Amino acid sequence: MAFSICLLSWSATEYRNQINAADQLINLQASIRWGTNFLLKAHNTSSNTLYTQVGDANRDHQCWERPEDMDTPPTLYKITSSSPGTEPAAEAAAALAAASIVFKGVDSNYSALLLNHSKSVDKYRGSYQGSCPFYCSYSGYQDELLWGAVWLYKASGDNAYLNYASNNEGWSQAANEFSGLLYTRDSSNLQYATSASMILLVYSNILTAARVNGVQCGSVNFSTSKIKDFAKSQVDYILGNNPMKMSYMVGFGSKYPTQLHHRGASLPSIYNHSAKIGCNDGYSTWYTSSKPNPNTHVGAIVGGPNSNDQFTDSRTDYSHLEPTTYINAAFVGSVAALIGQSKEENILFTLADV
Ligand SMILES: *[C@@H]1O[C@H](CO)[C@@H](O)[C@H](O)[C@H]1NC(C)=O
Ligand SMILES: *[C@@H]1O[C@H](CO)[C@@H](O)[C@H](O)[C@H]1NC(C)=O
Ligand SMILES: *[C@@H]1O[C@H](CO)[C@@H](O)[C@H](O)[C@H]1NC(C)=O
Ligand SMILES: *[C@@H]1O[C@H](CO)[C@@H](O)[C@H](O)[C@H]1NC(C)=O
Ligand SMILES: *[C@@H]1O[C@H](CO)[C@@H](O)[C@H](O)[C@H]1NC(C)=O
Repeated sequence: MAFSICLLSWSATEYRNQINAADQLINLQASIRWGTNFLLKAHNTSSNTLYTQVGDANRDHQCWERPEDMDTPPTLYKITSSSPGTEPAAEAAAALAAASIVFKGVDSNYSALLLNHSKSVDKYRGSYQGSCPFYCSYSGYQDELLWGAVWLYKASGDNAYLNYASNNEGWSQAANEFSGLLYTRDSSNLQYATSASMILLVYSNILTAARVNGVQCGSVNFSTSKIKDFAKSQVDYILGNNPMKMSYMVGFGSKYPTQLHHRGASLPSIYNHSAKIGCNDGYSTWYTSSKPNPNTHVGAIVGGPNSNDQFTDSRTDYSHLEPTTYINAAFVGSVAALIGQSKEENILFTLADV
């Protein structure tokens, strides 16, 4: 969640004018504030404690029930000075710092509060791997530390954070996948495609601002416009320009996934089915049903096609049918960038359509 909030905050700053022109800035700020309020509450009992998870994920994964019916244990997990978790702490620091930039000219007290929490949330070094109950880190905490440091530098202007990031630059790992649709791994691949597109569009802005026409990667030269076009091709692919001729965003276009791997969307609304649907009750009637979901989760982007650009609309296939906030959060940045471009090119494509 912290990563999603950080990406949304980045887009809100980088593409403020475009998002404002599409009348979405208030909505975006409200989404960010919802997330940062959650993080502030998770960091409220002491500056050394951050609550990192609510719920027993092992018990929870045995159920297919609606949020309204949830009856699995609301177990709380936290990191503390004696049981640290640098990955979530530094990720939260990044989100709070990035959001403090968003609110700087909007609500300066709130912005200062976010920055204060950002500075104090990550004090004790130790991998979350040692204490996490579920959804652990797979690559260590170095990437989160760099990410947190650069956002703290941007939010505070304090050179100590910049120096820290520069001195530890070697921790960053090069991302080097380029193909048709960007394909990194089979499970929820569109998260890599949306985040890479956002990065490429931001980077092309940086090149333009620095009056550089392109970048040399080994023996290949990528011009700024080629980088932009490539990122746009990813957005177009996701929205329908692909071998399956379908949109991977639910509710967009005429053909899109109808069997989202999502409990709220796949189970009937409490208004149509008021009786409780217990932990296991959702499986036989709804989870394995071949019918479309009763509820259309408009705007959700699924995991996407497999390595052969093929896609089977089947609810149980979570690698390809599950939506996540971090797929969508990165997509916001890409479409915001393209609003500006489409205006220039006079293409009829607005955030409101999405
Ligand atoms: C927790 O939140 C309350 C109310 O907003 C605030 O007064 C208090 O200072 C916070 N405590 C910490 C440790 O952040
Ligand atoms: C912001 O904080 C200052 C100093 O604590 C206080 O005087 C002011 O009333 C606050 N503004 C708002 C809008 O809460
Ligand atoms: C942030 O921290 C500074 C220094 O500790 C303190 O003076 C200030 O009141 C804090 N601001 C907020 C909004 O918590
Ligand atoms: C690649 O692009 C850069 C900057 O535009 C230029 O200086 C350089 O000569 C180009 N290299 C090749 C191999 O085309
Ligand atoms: C559920 O109820 C709502 C409101 O009464 C209605 O609009 C909708 O069509 C119903 N959906 C199904 C799948 O029956």
